[in-house]
This record gives sequence, structure tokens and C-alpha cells, in this order.
Amino acid sequence: MENTLNDELLKWRLEFPILGNTVYLISHSLGAMPRATLSRLADYAETWATRGVRAWAEGWWDMPVTVGNQVASIIGAPPGSVVMHQNVSICQSLILSCFEPTPKRNKIVYSELNFPSVMYVYEAHARDGRIRIETVASDDGITVPLDRFLAAIDEETLLVPFSHVLFKSGFLQNARAITERAHEVGAMVVLDAYQSAGTVPFDVTELNVDFATGGSVKWLCGGPGAGYLYVRPDLHQTLRPKTTGWMAHEAPFAFDPELKYAPDIRRFLHGSPSIPALYAAESGYRIINEIGVDKIREKSVRQTTCLISLAEEAGFEVTSPKNAAERGGTITVSHDDAAAITKELIRREFIVDYRPGAGVRISPHFYTSDEELELIVREMKEIRDTRAYAGHETVEAAF
Ligand SMILES: Cc1ncc(COP(=O)(O)O)c(C=O)c1O
Repeated sequence: MENTLNDELLKWRLEFPILGNTVYLISHSLGAMPRATLSRLADYAETWATRGVRAWAEGWWDMPVTVGNQVASIIGAPPGSVVMHQNVSICQSLILSCFEPTPKRNKIVYSELNFPSVMYVYEAHARDGRIRIETVASDDGITVPLDRFLAAIDEETLLVPFSHVLFKSGFLQNARAITERAHEVGAMVVLDAYQSAGTVPFDVTELNVDFATGGSVKWLCGGPGAGYLYVRPDLHQTLRPKTTGWMAHEAPFAFDPELKYAPDIRRFLHGSPSIPALYAAESGYRIINEIGVDKIREKSVRQTTCLISLAEEAGFEVTSPKNAAERGGTITVSHDDAAAITKELIRREFIVDYRPGAGVRISPHFYTSDEELELIVREMKEIRDTRAYAGHETVEAAF
């Protein structure tokens, strides 16, 4: 294991207050809050208090695009190609609303391990029969066979909304192969990068994805309410989203009764933006941009590899992929009583979570020390061996 003194990323620990009193290994769920977020939220309140309504014209109206530009640099998107929304679910609805399915092109392809909220959006639209869904099965509940996924994408496919990294198991899907196959048959892809952005390097321009969406809650350390939507620049002038609002108008303040779409990325906005969430999110983006995702990934691969060895040495079964090229930043560890063990870990200030079928989800991030990896595995082993989890046996996932 690398000597802690050689890990230059550990200097960031001081910027994350929660690391002082917990072993925080849950960045796949809620990344730690940067200390700077406190002052950014104070800036928001101060601006509102002192500038009042003038704040809108002094930056607030532009924030969905200016803050989007900070996300853009993390995901390889050009400036002016990302807008901020509240969450991924609304972004998926907005994307789907850009299309007119026809009987010859009305199929949506995704895997059964897609994030459920994303599936709900398409399922709800499938009810009236205008789209149909082909769900690609997983054999093990952890991975999705690439060949099977690619074979499901055909000339009738309209959209392929897929997770880059699966939320449950950390399996990293082959975004390039899926995008190439979709384009070969005239379909478009929606890359859900929620579980990859900030921990797995990728470039939406180079991958040539049509849309990408994600949020800031997890690896970006930006907190809730700051979802992002990337749209490939050559689509900006042709798509006409039906999930829309006055911010998508070319001149919102003309209060024109007729919608005339903005000629650029702003046509993918809808109503008034969530300003406090955008203030809160920026500090995380700044840190991720400053460190760079390549460096974060290098450390993540080293630490997740180390976690796998430690967990296996302690007699646990690791269910997430063993091959680093096939996983994101999360390791999952199974045990019949994984839910109860998780509850006991949290009680002891080891912050992780549990997903049925995968087990305890453990995610080191750039701020994690190697010592914390040893501590969590030692604690899990102790909880298992002493059955200290026994009082929690009926618990379900709480977050
Ligand atoms: C892959 C993935 N997509 C989407 C979401 C969340 O979607 P929303 O932003 O709509 O809450 C999550 C959250 O766990 C996720 O892991």
C-alpha cells in the first residue's frame, strides 16, 4: 500500500469537514461537502439580501449555462453545450420530448440494471404505445453482456439511455461500443454519467454521444438539485423539446405568447432555475477541475484494487467487477447480512450503504486515505465475527 505521505491528493482532506469525524466512503451516493460550499451559500444569501431582484440580471439568469460550463470541462464538452436542471429524471424527460416516434422507429433500449428513475420516465411514455422498450437482461445482476446490449439496438431503435457506470454494482459499460452501434443504425444515445463523472475520465465529444446527463450529488461533491444536460452542439438548432418553458425562448423577457426557441443550448432549459443549488454545486466542480479526473481515476483504481484484496483476505466476497477496466469507483461486498452490517457500520461512523443483490457499497474518492480502507475492512470483519449486527437484521436501505 502506498505511503500516505506520497499521496498528494490527501491535502484536500482539510477542505471536507465531514472527513474529520467519519470514515466517509459513500461518494457514489452523496459526496462530501467542500468547506467552500458554506461561503458560496452565504454569497447567495448576501446577493439576494443586498441586490434583491437585480441579482437575476447580474448573473442568476445565466447560471444554468455558466455553471454548466464548469461541468462541461469535467466531461469534455465545449462551452455552451451543457445546461443545468434539477436532476437526471427531468433531463431524460426533456430529451425524450424532443422526438416524434414513428411505428418504424419507436424503440428504447436499456438494460434492466439502468437507474430505476430513468426507467420510470420511459415506462410512463410507453403506456400510450408511442414508444416501446426493449430491456436487456443481466445474467448476474452485476454486469450487462455487451454483445446482448448491442444486438438489441436495431433500425427501429430511437434512443438508447444507458448508465455509464451501473449504480448498483459499479460495472463500467462500454460507452464507445454502444454509441457506435446506435449511430450505425440511426439511433441516438443518452449517456447517464451520474456514476462516472468525477471519477472515471471520459470525453463526450470524443465519444460522440448525442446527449449526456448526470447530477452533482455524488462524485462531483456538488450536492442536490444540480443536474446537468449535455446536447451535442450540431443538434442545438434542430431539436424542439416539448418539455419546455420560458427560459427556452429566444427572448424570455419579450413575454411572447408564442414559443420561439433560443438558437443555442438555452432551448433545452425550461422555467426559472434553482439558483441556491447552483451556488452550492460550484465548489465541488472547482476542486474536481483543479485535480483533474485522470488523477482521481488513477488513485481510485489503486484504492479499489486494494479494497478488493483487503476484503477477500478478510473472507468477504466481492461482487463488483475485479477487472479495474470494468468498474467505476465503487466496490461492493456481499454477505447474507450485508444490510445489517451496513447499519452497524453507520452507527460506528463508517458511512457506506447497501443495495440488495450487490451488498455493502464502498467508494473511496480522492480524499480517502489508505488507512481508511484498512479501517473499514477491519471493522466489517469485527462486526461479522462478533455478530454485532444482530440487532439490525430487519433493516432496509435508508439512502
Ligand atoms: C446512474 C444514476 N442515474 C440517476 C440517478 C438519480 O437520478 P435523479 O437525478 O433523477 O435523482 C442516480 C442516483 O443514484 C444514478 O446513480
